[in-house]
Amino acid sequence: MELTVSLGPRSYPVFLDSGTANNFPATLNALFPESKFGLVTNTTIRDLYKPLIDQWTAELGLTIHIMPDGERYKTIETWGAIFDTFLPARFERSSVLIALGGGVVGDVTGFAAAAMLRGVKYVQVPTTLLAMVDSSVGGKTAVDHPAGKNLIGAFYQPNMVFVDTAFLATLPEREYRSGYAELFKYAFIGGLDMFDFIVRNHKALIKHDNAAMLEGIKRSIEIKAAVVNRDEKETSGERMLLNFGHTFAHALEKCFNFEGLLHGEAVWYGMACAIELGKLLKLIPVADIPSYDTLAAFLLKPQLPSFPPVDDLYNAMFFDKKVAGGQIKFVVPAEKGRSVMKTGIPEDTVKVAMRKGMTLHGTV
Ligand SMILES: NC(=O)c1ccc[n+]([C@@H]2O[C@H](COP(=O)([O-])OP(=O)(O)OC[C@H]3O[C@@H](n4cnc5c(N)ncnc54)[C@H](O)[C@@H]3O)[C@@H](O)[C@H]2O)c1
Repeated sequence: MELTVSLGPRSYPVFLDSGTANNFPATLNALFPESKFGLVTNTTIRDLYKPLIDQWTAELGLTIHIMPDGERYKTIETWGAIFDTFLPARFERSSVLIALGGGVVGDVTGFAAAAMLRGVKYVQVPTTLLAMVDSSVGGKTAVDHPAGKNLIGAFYQPNMVFVDTAFLATLPEREYRSGYAELFKYAFIGGLDMFDFIVRNHKALIKHDNAAMLEGIKRSIEIKAAVVNRDEKETSGERMLLNFGHTFAHALEKCFNFEGLLHGEAVWYGMACAIELGKLLKLIPVADIPSYDTLAAFLLKPQLPSFPPVDDLYNAMFFDKKVAGGQIKFVVPAEKGRSVMKTGIPEDTVKVAMRKGMTLHGTV
């Protein structure tokens, strides 16, 4: 199926299907005739998908750049090395970089495309669930800096996104569950229909049911595209809704020094805390509480090596990029499928929400 991210002259198609990777060169040639193509991927994907990459290389005449695997390589150095491959190969503004991988490959390649020759085309081929439902769409590109994650980057939209859910077959289960947190979060911001979709399909999604997955990814991309359409460069605040559960999650990640805990694993806890906050602030209507309790019981909170003290978690929240003027911004659930931005929430209330949300089983 084909979706569209509507952004005026920067609009682009998203192709979403299963088992279509062999057709990728034909799709690409049709959209970008006569272009030169470059592929960026990492060592893990290269080893897992060598026959596919060989086929693409034969059909597209690819120049290939392989980066090391891992968030710790999401750096200016890794970014700079991309130019060392493609500039000597005489890439031009009409050339197309292909990012084949998860969010790390996608973010670094997108940022390289933004800077090379002041902007070349790029295409996202996400291979993790997180990248399919979140990072491949929307045009946020970045690398990390020792001062923090994603601090150097650009808003730069891809020219096409090609999602083939067959890539998920090789994704480690832990990565799948972590990425699923980013799909699940759309229940809180994507309207009543998405809320009900998650309630109905949670079990199928955990079991990797392909039909449920395709529908969940489609809905996620549509919801994200609509938010990005209204707030492409995060100026009106609406795009911040996509960070549902993330204020708490980033604090948890910081308490673990961004090690040992996957981002999505922290987001599961973050969503639990946000639900508790919605109840405490009475933003969730009483009639909707049982439905939210159903969602809360679904959250795939993993066992943590330890539970950081609530005071540490609270202090860690002040390092979030979304803190403005010393005020922490929270995305808090209201009616089913709708969340609102809130600031000025009393410290005690936040800490109570954290104590409840951080429990491993349920939210009692
Ligand atoms: N740009 C955005 O809007 C946005 C949004 C959310 C997250 N992000 C960024 O995304 C990154 C996280 O992305 P991620 O969760 O995809 O992590 P990742 O890119 O590190 O991928 C996770 C691991 O899975 C491996 N992998 C990828 N696809 C595979 C496959 N099909 N089979 C087997 N292994 C595979 C990778 O090599 C890696 O080891 C972070 O850097 C985050 O900042 C960006």
